[in-house]
Amino acid sequence: MTNNILSTTEVEQFDRDGYVLVPDLFSPAEVAVMIRSVEGGSRVAEMTRGTADATGKKARLAIWHELGDDVWAAASTCPRVVNNVRIILREEIAFFHGKVMLKEAKSGGAWEWHQDYGYWYDQGYVFPRMLSVFVALDAATKENGCLNVLRGSHELGRLTHTIVGTQTGADPNRMPQLETMFERVAVTMSPGSALFFHCNLLHTSAPNLSDHHRRSFIMCYNALANPQLGDKKTSAQVPCPVGADDAILKFA
Ligand code: SIN
Ligand code: MN
Repeated sequence: MTNNILSTTEVEQFDRDGYVLVPDLFSPAEVAVMIRSVEGGSRVAEMTRGTADATGKKARLAIWHELGDDVWAAASTCPRVVNNVRIILREEIAFFHGKVMLKEAKSGGAWEWHQDYGYWYDQGYVFPRMLSVFVALDAATKENGCLNVLRGSHELGRLTHTIVGTQTGADPNRMPQLETMFERVAVTMSPGSALFFHCNLLHTSAPNLSDHHRRSFIMCYNALANPQLGDKKTSAQVPCPVGADDAILKFA
């Protein structure tokens, strides 16, 4: 990354692997503002809900579809994010949703293998021209259940998703074989690092049985020209605003 813009090599990496990891996209000061907002802010407190995994452990998350006017909106409209998502998708984008994943120490539940587009297709999105930017707020390690991905699996296209345990997951009859066909990468991350990943990349994560929280903020975007069918609109199809680069720190 040079001047906060992904290099050609990094974009090629995304195209080939379905993801690219950018260390230190956000500074320690910016991460501190976000952590404070997780712990004391109203949006996360109001929007948090729990999804039990197969063992009953709760994967708690707060999700919203409007940008609003707070630190989360500042991060979601940060040029370091928005411009790079535009570069990866090679087209104008719309904000889709933001979510804070609260994978807390000793309790945070697992996520089954899935593609995000496995969920989003069912919301009516026509093309897989969508992606997520996963920002680590705490260090994400193997011990506290970091994200695992199958490198290159976005090339599979969208798989059928069914109920797996208590969650929606990628076809459990196919997954064991698919797991042998791709390299499984445990994406360990330092706080402030960001993983840009394709909506058809298969990913999973183990429960957090450690003494350390593994909280993250995920920003999801849709290509502006990617229509959503049906009458239940989950996102506004307007260009994502681009804010000031230092906007997060204004909420310090
Ligand atoms: C996780 O936080 O481990 C899962 C996130 C996701 O599925 O996007
Ligand atoms: Mn996901």
